[in-house]
Amino acid sequence: MIANPMNDFTSQHYETERLKYAKTIQQALDQTLTPAHLSGPGKAPEQLVNAMRHGALNGGKRLRPLLVMQAAKIFGIPQNLSLHAALSVELVHCYSLVHDDLPAMDDDDLRRGQPTVHKAYDEATAILAGDTLLAQAFALLADEQCHQDPQIRSSLVLELAKGAGAGGMAGGQALDLEGEKGGFSMNDISRMQDMKTGALITSSVRMGAILGGADQPQLAALTTYGQAAGRAFQLADDILDITASAEQMGKATGKDAARSKPTLVARIGLDAAKTHLGETIHKALSALLIFGAEADGLRATAIYFAERKN
Ligand code: IPE
Ligand code: IPE
Ligand code: MG
Ligand code: MG
Ligand code: MG
Repeated sequence: MIANPMNDFTSQHYETERLKYAKTIQQALDQTLTPAHLSGPGKAPEQLVNAMRHGALNGGKRLRPLLVMQAAKIFGIPQNLSLHAALSVELVHCYSLVHDDLPAMDDDDLRRGQPTVHKAYDEATAILAGDTLLAQAFALLADEQCHQDPQIRSSLVLELAKGAGAGGMAGGQALDLEGEKGGFSMNDISRMQDMKTGALITSSVRMGAILGGADQPQLAALTTYGQAAGRAFQLADDILDITASAEQMGKATGKDAARSKPTLVARIGLDAAKTHLGETIHKALSALLIFGAEADGLRATAIYFAERKN
């Protein structure tokens, strides 16, 4: 248990808020992933749209959009004005999961309590569903409804592209697969985790800050928060892979050891990993010291990252 630094933000209240945000995201995703919204020069094929919907609407905690909205809220930006950016990050995250589960990567059959997209459809459709979720994320950011200022829209596009790309999530996924072959140092593991998971989490927080017009010190503080929260998030995922059941997680567990994934938990053991998780959360919370109660949402989310049960 990590001491809760907030007086007026009880865990019960947080849980209600978190689920409310997740419902908003779920409904908005449902509305945006339709043939009408996905059409381009041609009409989007029905099976592909269904596979995209399978990969995106199958539950999920919606934590990255929560971070976008909570970071934007620090600057007084209401939910409806951070929604497009929030959705775009979740679409990239869903695409990353669809591809992460493919036989060529982690080869998983279960995701969010349901068959993975390549199991429900086929591999080619899952690859294309990932591609199109990614493309749609950038369509949402470029849309005028995302933000009236084109400069803000282009900053958001750049931020998400960097977080998702070769120096971010996808690059980290490449390192994750390379690590299966062995030979990773502790530093290599941390770098891989910071990229495959931390990068998109950091970008989520930074996109909220961009929407809010954060100044340099504020952006730097939120970046430090995002990096620590991201590191904590993957550490918790790796701990849960050992300690939790597939029913609890909605995905297979015990997979990291089975696939010889290089994780900090495997390297330093469960107890040391839990201690390190606590320290990392404190780092995330310390980064928010320049903010007042307006950052309590982000504080509670960092604590949730460490204490989550799925
Ligand atoms: C799982 O992310 C993949 C990792 C980066 C560890 P989440 O735990 O956020 O997955 P969903 O979106 O809630 O299913
Ligand atoms: C996933 O890490 C990171 C991504 C970018 C998708 P994992 O491979 O540990 O995620 P799970 O455990 O399958 O959700
Ligand atoms: Mg993986
Ligand atoms: Mg995986
Ligand atoms: Mg995992």
